[in-house]
Amino acid sequence: MAFSLPNFIGHRGAAGYAPENTLASIHKAACLGTSWVEFDVQLTYDSELVLFHDNSLDRTTNGSGLLADQRLKSLKDLDAGSWFGSDFTGETIPTLTQALGTARELDLGCNVEIKSSFGRERETVRAVARTIVNFPKSPTILVSSFCHETVHMLKYYLPEVRRALIVRKIPANWQSLMKRMQCSSLHVSEESLDQRQVQMVQSTGIKVLAFTINDRKRAEHLFAMGVSSVFTDVPGKIFSPMTMAV
Ligand code: G3P
Ligand code: MG
Repeated sequence: MAFSLPNFIGHRGAAGYAPENTLASIHKAACLGTSWVEFDVQLTYDSELVLFHDNSLDRTTNGSGLLADQRLKSLKDLDAGSWFGSDFTGETIPTLTQALGTARELDLGCNVEIKSSFGRERETVRAVARTIVNFPKSPTILVSSFCHETVHMLKYYLPEVRRALIVRKIPANWQSLMKRMQCSSLHVSEESLDQRQVQMVQSTGIKVLAFTINDRKRAEHLFAMGVSSVFTDVPGKIFSPMTMAV
């Protein structure tokens, strides 16, 4: 798949319709016509990579405590679907390898958001890089993180893969950060965006992507401001395949 971001990217798969960051959620995003998905990746206690958003297991599984304190085997015993709905009972926490396999099967691009646990940033980046580099016929990938150190290290450990920095608000020093990290895009929380800033960033060739937009009118407003793509939990609601432009 050539590197080309669509207007809409399924957030945590299609988190509005299936339990976030699960294979069911990735399948749902594809069923709804999404050509790219975003998901969050974290390191387990025994250095495996799994899809998971929170630090704690409590909200989205039947487990409790910190994900980073658990081995993959124990995490795999958890139910990551029932909290969302009985149709998803038995859904498990996927590994990054499983998610990439599903994306490859469904012909989806992947935005792999790295959530490094404190003090394990390098280990996380190295594990992500190893997984992606060794993955046969890998889907098209964009890696991103809120963590500056993580994005900076990606430049060395995964130089061939496009990178993005995620921010709540475009910082005053965005230009020097982008230059240092050599990012292809900046992913920004939607409520903080203004047209002048968006156009300034876009004029340098760096794409601005906004998260998380679940309202069609708001998405249209952001596109009018110059935003390239939006992350959405509800791809089926926010666009029909007709409205998608690549
Ligand atoms: O990658 C965009 C967005 O997912 C960042 O925030 O907390 O939903 O992972 P969060
Ligand atoms: Mg995310």
